[in-house]
Amino acid sequence: MSQDLKLSMRGLVKRFGGVTALDAVDFEVRRGEVMALVGDNGAGKSTLIKTLAGAHQPDGGRIELDGREVHFATPQDAWSRGVATIFQELALAGKMTVADNIFLGREIIRPVAGVPFLDRRAMQRRSRELLDELDVEIPDIQIWVEYLSGGQRQGVAIARALNIDADLIVMDEPTAALAVAEVRKVLGFIKTLRAQGKSVILISHNIQDVFEVADRITVLRRGRNAGLVDTAAATPEDVVGLITGASVARRTADATP
Ligand SMILES: Nc1ncnc2c1ncn2[C@@H]1O[C@H](COP(=O)(O)OP(=O)(O)O)[C@@H](O)[C@H]1O
Ligand SMILES: [Mg+2]
Repeated sequence: MSQDLKLSMRGLVKRFGGVTALDAVDFEVRRGEVMALVGDNGAGKSTLIKTLAGAHQPDGGRIELDGREVHFATPQDAWSRGVATIFQELALAGKMTVADNIFLGREIIRPVAGVPFLDRRAMQRRSRELLDELDVEIPDIQIWVEYLSGGQRQGVAIARALNIDADLIVMDEPTAALAVAEVRKVLGFIKTLRAQGKSVILISHNIQDVFEVADRITVLRRGRNAGLVDTAAATPEDVVGLITGASVARRTADATP
């Protein structure tokens, strides 16, 4: 992505049978920005980012990177264009080491006497660098991922995205089900990514977390845009009102004589 821009989605439509999960949704993220995506269960958040990630194909609308329309046929396609999505289900292999997970699908292969072999040393060295850059504390990267805490696993998933040099990292509920100290860590990773000039999309139910790290907040409600606010210019109550529709209802009530 270029310096100024950005990802933008315009008029995005996604239907599942009779359900319209996304009804002409607009969404954008600038370079070096943390954009939060919030809304009640079923609002369409995961559908939006799965469409961005190439896991779903939209029924309408367009996706642009730096003003050029893109079509991501698969998640691999999106990754190859620098859009790395960390799904709610994380997609790490529990019975593989930290380093092997970071290099999953893009192992460093070196021919020795004409025979290809996995360059584990190189992969371990690079994994350590990536984890250190993010300040993820994992003393032994030779252990299986299933022995890590939830926060460490998020760190590994982000390191994996950085390993492909992603410009935009999308995280679906990365702090759900984490202990408080672990949440702090993951919010720290997000701030580090922004400091590195990356763009981040953060889906979260926790409005406090959102206010701590996001520059702007996009609100979805029942598959539609319900608001776009600058975090610095809004209160958590404003955002909750947009999520529930209460602020719209109140305005309507005020207008009634
Ligand atoms: N694969 C699917 N098949 C059918 N309906 C789906 C599918 N994924 C999501 N939906 C529906 O689309 C709507 C939005 O869901 P989702 O994007 O998961 O919401 P959120 O992530 O905001 O909770 C819901 O009504 C949900 O039931
Ligand atoms: Mg969801």
